[in-house]
Amino acid sequence: MRPNNAACNCPTMVRTLASILALLAVCTVVAVAAENPATEAVRRLARGINLGNALEAPAEGAWGVTLRSEYFDIIKDAGFTSVRIPVRWSAHAQAEAPYAIAPEFFARVDFVVRGALSRGLNVVIDDHHYAELFQNPQRELPRLIALWDQIASHYRDYSQDVFFELLNEPQGEMTDDVWQEVMLKLLRTVRRTNHDRMVIVGPGHLNGLDHLANLRLPDEDTRLIATFHYYRPMSFTHQMASWVKGSELWKGTVWAGTADQRQAVKSDFDEAAQWARANRRPLYVGEFGAYGAADIESRVRWTAAVVQEAERHGFGWAYWEFNAGFGAYDTEAQAWREDLLNALIARPPVKK
Ligand code: BGC
Repeated sequence: MRPNNAACNCPTMVRTLASILALLAVCTVVAVAAENPATEAVRRLARGINLGNALEAPAEGAWGVTLRSEYFDIIKDAGFTSVRIPVRWSAHAQAEAPYAIAPEFFARVDFVVRGALSRGLNVVIDDHHYAELFQNPQRELPRLIALWDQIASHYRDYSQDVFFELLNEPQGEMTDDVWQEVMLKLLRTVRRTNHDRMVIVGPGHLNGLDHLANLRLPDEDTRLIATFHYYRPMSFTHQMASWVKGSELWKGTVWAGTADQRQAVKSDFDEAAQWARANRRPLYVGEFGAYGAADIESRVRWTAAVVQEAERHGFGWAYWEFNAGFGAYDTEAQAWREDLLNALIARPPVKK
């Protein structure tokens, strides 16, 4: 008889129990991930920046930004994990069937996508500024579908670090109801070649938070991320913006970060989080930012408040934008606007 028999078996039992528990934990993680792979994908998007005013201008350079290879290093080194690339595909495709996208434009978008991927940045490709579509959705629908058919085929073999965003800021005649139908058609088009691709979809009315409730995503598709844009209050973020009528009247509006102002941001994000929970979809704030005409202290305060709320709820985000009118980066000075960058990605103070 071995007096310490029980003691001998104990470690074995503990080990077995530990293995079972570990297996259970792995199963749970796998089950959760399998339940909604989009949640994991949003964690990869995490902290992003829009490469705005470049490929969504009528022609690259027309709005002062031509993308350069070193921008990806600058963005990656600053701590961002993703970029969103606004693209005006409609300006580079035939007007008539088969609506072919110009190969040289595809090559240019490829340069940007590959540049970002090669630095380990996740990439969102969107369809931006299709103005004719917003005037006449029915007439333009075959062309829009053909564009997505080509984009989806072109990037089908790219890694899953590439995300598709079906349409930036539906507006005009692309009402919520029209967009709902169009969105489902685009999704079906994309899924023919990209079964596993993460697809981002926002509501109508300029991806407005208040219109999320009208967005109905198909239950069976778990690889979808919902998005909204956040520019509230417009009187602050868009003061002096030439494309917003009457915005000169907002000149000098500050965002002091009063309790009421902070509460307004918090309530908006709580509302978004409630939608996300009810619909079991992760959220991505694909655009937010304050135009350079506002004072920099206010911009920094507002930006930090928005980032804090987004991250509190686990939303991914992308600042609007890198180096134009809202720019966090000053191309001329070849430097980040430090306070703004810190508001986006808090970094330890530099030791002097
Ligand atoms: C538009 C930009 C604009 C920004 C802020 C974007 O969706 O495409 O042209 O600067 O929103 O208004």
